[in-house]
Amino acid sequence: MASVPSLASTVQQRLADGLSAALPDAASADPLLRRSDRADFQANGILALAKQLKGNPRELATKVVEAIPANDVLKEIEVSGPGFLNITVTDRAIVETLAARAADARLGVPFSESAGTTVIDYAQPNVAKEMHVGHLRSAVIGAAMVEILEFTGETVVRRHHIGDWGTQFGMLIQYLIEHPHELDHKAEDGAEVSGEEAMSNLNRLYKASRALFDSDEEFKTRARARVVDLQAGDEETLALWQRFVDESKIYFYSVFDKLDMDIRDGDVVGESGYNDMLTETCRILEESGVAVRSEGALCVFFDDVKGPDGNPTPLIVQKSDGGFGYAATDLSAIRDRVQNLKATSLLYVVDARQSLHFKMVFETARRAGWLNDEVKAVQLAFGTVLGKDGKPFKTREGETVRLVDLLDEAVDRATAVVREKAEKVGLSETEIVENGQYVGIGAVKYADLSTSASRDYKFDLDQMVSLNGDTSVYLQYAYARIKSIFGKAGDRTPAAHPELELAPAERALGLHLDRFAETVSEAATEYAPHKLTAYLYQLASLYTTFYDQCPVIKPEPAQEVAENRLFLCDLTARTLHQGMALLGIRTPERL
Ligand code: ARG
Repeated sequence: MASVPSLASTVQQRLADGLSAALPDAASADPLLRRSDRADFQANGILALAKQLKGNPRELATKVVEAIPANDVLKEIEVSGPGFLNITVTDRAIVETLAARAADARLGVPFSESAGTTVIDYAQPNVAKEMHVGHLRSAVIGAAMVEILEFTGETVVRRHHIGDWGTQFGMLIQYLIEHPHELDHKAEDGAEVSGEEAMSNLNRLYKASRALFDSDEEFKTRARARVVDLQAGDEETLALWQRFVDESKIYFYSVFDKLDMDIRDGDVVGESGYNDMLTETCRILEESGVAVRSEGALCVFFDDVKGPDGNPTPLIVQKSDGGFGYAATDLSAIRDRVQNLKATSLLYVVDARQSLHFKMVFETARRAGWLNDEVKAVQLAFGTVLGKDGKPFKTREGETVRLVDLLDEAVDRATAVVREKAEKVGLSETEIVENGQYVGIGAVKYADLSTSASRDYKFDLDQMVSLNGDTSVYLQYAYARIKSIFGKAGDRTPAAHPELELAPAERALGLHLDRFAETVSEAATEYAPHKLTAYLYQLASLYTTFYDQCPVIKPEPAQEVAENRLFLCDLTARTLHQGMALLGIRTPERL
């Protein structure tokens, strides 16, 4: 495992050397290097420096360029405009850097120097309720962040904060007591219950008990008494509550399975998992003065959080009747994650509509000292999934769309796309079905990951499985196309040839391949998986141009040229594969 310095960092270093040789006083100035269309890189830092030193920027730039010792990385540095540097690197430097990446199983991506422990709160559906597109977003974005952070060396603890506690369980449990066979399975003895059947049982029960609760005052009273039993830890009540949780898990896991997502039971620590901490959390907050009693409730106030009437809106940690809510649980979870799990970062992949809740919870935790300079908390807030009409995604009847239906439809459409091309590639029926799943689920994940999380996005299956455009299928086809080239390459194998001159499309592809490491690092530190997605799309596009302009097999190029191009093909395939894996998307070998 060797981390490979990127060309950008090597060039940056050379410029810094030139700067400090030419201007010893300005040795710490940043040359401000970035990728450029005019040359390979552009450095703008000398402009600011000249201003500071009250010198002529062009003269200064020329002096810096002259001070850079001759080397085999920089081919040309041109002073342009008011004092920019346009920098072109040598073809040799590109190929040698890529060869070093190719020699490493991690493609030269370094481990982060500041790695710590991040607890990621994601994929948190609610017991006895259907999962919807919002749960999809949390699961998809969260899973990508898990992979990306782990790849950079971060220790990641996954937490699925499922909604498994609350007053609604009084109603559900009471109903089940009065209708004892409602959760029994139709399936024959020994046969496993499908997620679908589990959910339909729960749905029916939820609706029936809700209807009774709303219409029958006596049932309502019994249901309320049941909440008290549940909170008091009454054994029979708890056992029934557990049945709801177990039944729901069958359903959740079936959906996560469809999503090709590995959710482990030990990482599911729902709201109920913090019950034992709630009283203590309130005591600490009250004794330290962070929370105060107001009309019987335990509250935390904030100067900048006010209701429409101008009065401060508090975070209610404990209600006046003694009950605990969502906030008490989240505050207890913070204590657990910081003190027991030893987290240095807490990441919450949760709908933007809960931003005020998290703002107040985090601020409370800061006042209590659970969060501080060593431990930070961030909400990776995501926007709403919209229908094609730009309105929040609903069925024609105005109901929330069932996640399972969406996923099934995505897979159906993708399978049709795969089938169309299958004959040419010679895919078997099994491969068609399997690829249909990888392409369909990949399409859904990719659509979710290809715009910045905070933005709303339109759920448009036609667009998602389109072969042209910024879609996962496009990337998956690019990958499979590269793989098929190796089948046709005969005895020619990939080999880097730094002595060769590169064609423009080869240079562009090569320079982009070199940026994989910095892209992963950016996606990790900024919690921005869409940056990786954008990188991969550009990689596939640059590859397509390269493939059009630089023949690999036919017309047959000279031996070394063919080997060098195969080398570029191979590194592109590996980079695509690794990048897609970090996003949770499969890359079938044949498609
Ligand atoms: N179960 C919640 C929902 O469906 C999301 C939980 C978010 N995580 C948390 N720690 N509050 O909206």
